[in-house]
Amino acid sequence: MTDSTSPSCSAESFARGLAGVVAGRTAICSLDGDLRYRGYSIEPLARAGDFEEVAYLLLHGELPTATQRHAFAARIATGARELDSAVIDCLAQLAAACPSASPMDALRTGVSALGQVARDRVPGTHDALIAQAERLLGQVPALLAAWMDLAAGRPVGPWPEGPVARALLERLTGRDPSAEQAAIFGTTLVLYAEHEFNASTFTARTIVSTGSDMHSGVVGAIGALKGPLHGGANEQVLEVLSAIGSADRAVAWLEQQFAAKRVVMGFGHRVYKNGDVRAKLLGGMCREMARGTPAEPLEDLADRIEAMMLDRKGLRPNLDWPAARVYHALGLPVAVFTPIFVVARMSGWTAHIIEQIGDNRLIRPLSLYCGPAARDYVPIVAR
Ligand code: COA
Repeated sequence: MTDSTSPSCSAESFARGLAGVVAGRTAICSLDGDLRYRGYSIEPLARAGDFEEVAYLLLHGELPTATQRHAFAARIATGARELDSAVIDCLAQLAAACPSASPMDALRTGVSALGQVARDRVPGTHDALIAQAERLLGQVPALLAAWMDLAAGRPVGPWPEGPVARALLERLTGRDPSAEQAAIFGTTLVLYAEHEFNASTFTARTIVSTGSDMHSGVVGAIGALKGPLHGGANEQVLEVLSAIGSADRAVAWLEQQFAAKRVVMGFGHRVYKNGDVRAKLLGGMCREMARGTPAEPLEDLADRIEAMMLDRKGLRPNLDWPAARVYHALGLPVAVFTPIFVVARMSGWTAHIIEQIGDNRLIRPLSLYCGPAARDYVPIVAR
């Protein structure tokens, strides 16, 4: 349908929330049957847990050789170490004014400020867009770590050596992570990296389809991801688990939610109606990691809720359900759970932004009017 045709006014002529609507083409990710990034099944990518490898694949279209991966990781690390001081000063002032502000708001503001000072704001070529995306892949985790320092009243610490997963985990916990901790954290970044036309990615594509720039697309995407029906769910999952406290209280709590017709965070998905493959993968790893540790009771509680959600609602967990538990077990504060999702999804967002710009047509759907019938204007003096 083109802009010049009118939509039919029947209820069947639109899909609420665009459910089931194919809104474009992509070569980046497919959810048909199983989840694949550029044709590769998610399972081996997640088990390898190498975020740089996956970010390279999403952006460049092919898996990197060892040399390509090394150079790519070095470019990301350079981005992380070269945050413009004007942006840090801006965040420092905001942290002093409101240290309890959400790190998601700090990231949204920080990326916007990066866009304002970027010398490459209007790149002309595909290569320039890739370079801009690679720089952002390093700048965004460094922004997050910087904000957490500033909000705690600390000077901004240096960006550590090593892959993004290990470096970010170290910056956010203040501890040198074990190899196992860095590995499972890397796996969560891989699982969060990309997911086709989700709300935030579609937002980013819509923004750049107007001819706007990459930073503006990412700022909009961060705003979309923040909501509890999208990325914000991973923080809510832990709030819920903490509020219930123990497995013996799960039944009463869930009955209350059902009676109040409230959604249970971490369950259900717009696309996966028979379960989210990412949740299955990470759920198994999470249980393995928690065995024999202080995190084990939380896993018992999670198991109880999962069984009851399936039994009563036929709903299975999505990725946020195990990711929140993994982050909690790694000692991360809840306020950084969704920002970590941002760090990972930067790879998918920027890949989609570049794909959209490379084959652009303005995204501009139609609406079905349901307001008052045509009526005559009455001048204000006569009302
Ligand atoms: N808890 C309880 N009930 C849920 C639910 C949940 N997490 N998710 C869906 N449902 C129910 C809906 O209320 C609806 O019930 P109804 O038919 O009686 O009205 C039914 O399942 C169908 O859900 P629907 O609204 O069609 O799902 P959707 O595709 O529009 O929404 C989500 C998908 C993700 C927004 C939704 O499942 C949700 O809100 N989940 C919790 C938030 C979350 O975890 N988000 C992260 C997503 S990755």
